[in-house]
Amino acid sequence: MAKLAPSILNADFKILGEQLRILKQGSVDTLHIDVMDGHFVDNISFAFPILESLKDSDFSLDIHLMISDPMKYVERFCQYGDIVTIHLEASSQPAEILRYIRQKCTKAGIAINPDTPIDGLLPLMGEFDLALIMSVFPGYGGQSFMPETLEKAQLLQEYKIKHGFMMEIDGGITINNLESVLNAAEFDYIVMGSAVMKNNIKENLDQIRRIL
Ligand code: DX5
Ligand code: ZN
Repeated sequence: MAKLAPSILNADFKILGEQLRILKQGSVDTLHIDVMDGHFVDNISFAFPILESLKDSDFSLDIHLMISDPMKYVERFCQYGDIVTIHLEASSQPAEILRYIRQKCTKAGIAINPDTPIDGLLPLMGEFDLALIMSVFPGYGGQSFMPETLEKAQLLQEYKIKHGFMMEIDGGITINNLESVLNAAEFDYIVMGSAVMKNNIKENLDQIRRIL
């Protein structure tokens, strides 16, 4: 069954604690953490101070690194994440980084942009615990879902069964398209940012739970 991983990119940080309590009451146990460096993607988000604050919360942290040269920082992110995901496009040596993450600390994920075919993942089979299909170009919350990216998830499905990795989809998922996403492939994690965090979180979660 697919698990909801709300992204806090669009949280209201002046009342983050309160928003996290509502998520917890709504049975959320995993947070998706979008780290952006202004280089691999245009936007800059947040990193270590927020992770430090979340360390003692009892959420699992699914860290999505949209940063260039992830090897440089991966050891630090490893201390916080239950899953640390790097982008295939961000490194010339993804296998080394994935091995490092797995050996040093935690589960390793590999993400691909909407215009990256799955071919680049094939030589990495067996080296990662999670494949993240981006259904928008990374950088911002609140963008429109790109349905053509679901085809890649369908192609990855047979490898998922063979190699036993988890599959996640991220970007533009809303209450309106959630059902079609769930029907398209066997996702383990569904990331939802603005659809959870904007307006009334409790009502959003109630609506999402009816579909999930
Ligand atoms: C986009 C991020 C996403 C984003 C999701 O670069 O990786 O995780 O926060 O937000 P929504 O669901 O609003 O597209
Ligand atoms: Zn993300």
